[in-house]
Amino acid sequence: MSIILSAIVATDQNLLIGSNNTLPWHLPADLKHFKEITTGHCIIMGRKTFESLPNGALPNRRNIVLSQNNSLNFPNAEIYQSIEQVFDALKSENEVFIIGGAQIYNLFMPFIQRIYLTKVHHQFLGDTYFPDFQEQTWNLMSEIKKKADEKNKWDYSFQVFEKRR
Ligand SMILES: NC(=O)c1ccc[n+]([C@@H]2O[C@H](COP(=O)([O-])OP(=O)(O)OC[C@H]3O[C@@H](n4cnc5c(N)ncnc54)[C@H](OP(=O)(O)O)[C@@H]3O)[C@@H](O)[C@H]2O)c1
Repeated sequence: MSIILSAIVATDQNLLIGSNNTLPWHLPADLKHFKEITTGHCIIMGRKTFESLPNGALPNRRNIVLSQNNSLNFPNAEIYQSIEQVFDALKSENEVFIIGGAQIYNLFMPFIQRIYLTKVHHQFLGDTYFPDFQEQTWNLMSEIKKKADEKNKWDYSFQVFEKRR
């Protein structure tokens, strides 16, 4: 079975994804969406994103972390020092998810076939951005538009893009 390499990300309207090693917003509906899509799959992240998780490795998912530091040891996570080592470790997976942050999205971007993008329809302040993936070179496969409510303060959309062949 061949692997589908997907990215999953939430951005603001300017592709902002992070601020001070955390998310710029609190959007419970997106956390639920992320959990639904990634549970049961392998997730791949940078060391900084792993360290931003409040309770360490995410449950019911194979957690892979990239770091150049070969003496790291995170409970319930596999740590690799290069993209080549990660690809070697993925041989028996089906769909795997690149979950960030910016350095890791950039590193894997040439290989990503699908993007699950939550667009938060607002402009936030921050310091870390998703790569400019040029939406016009991808097909928008689905889009679900959601209105702000008492728990989710901003309008947002769940989009899925697939790379044009
Ligand atoms: N909105 C979203 O959907 C979303 C998703 C994820 C993250 N974020 C946000 O993004 C920010 C973090 O992103 P970031 O770009 O600063 O950090 P990151 O990508 O999470 O992690 C960077 C680290 O990954 C390791 N790394 C990078 N390239 C590597 C390579 N080629 N080989 C081996 N290891 C490599 C290095 O670890 P070492 O320094 O240990 O060598 C590097 O410091 C946070 O604000 C976070 O909240 C947002």
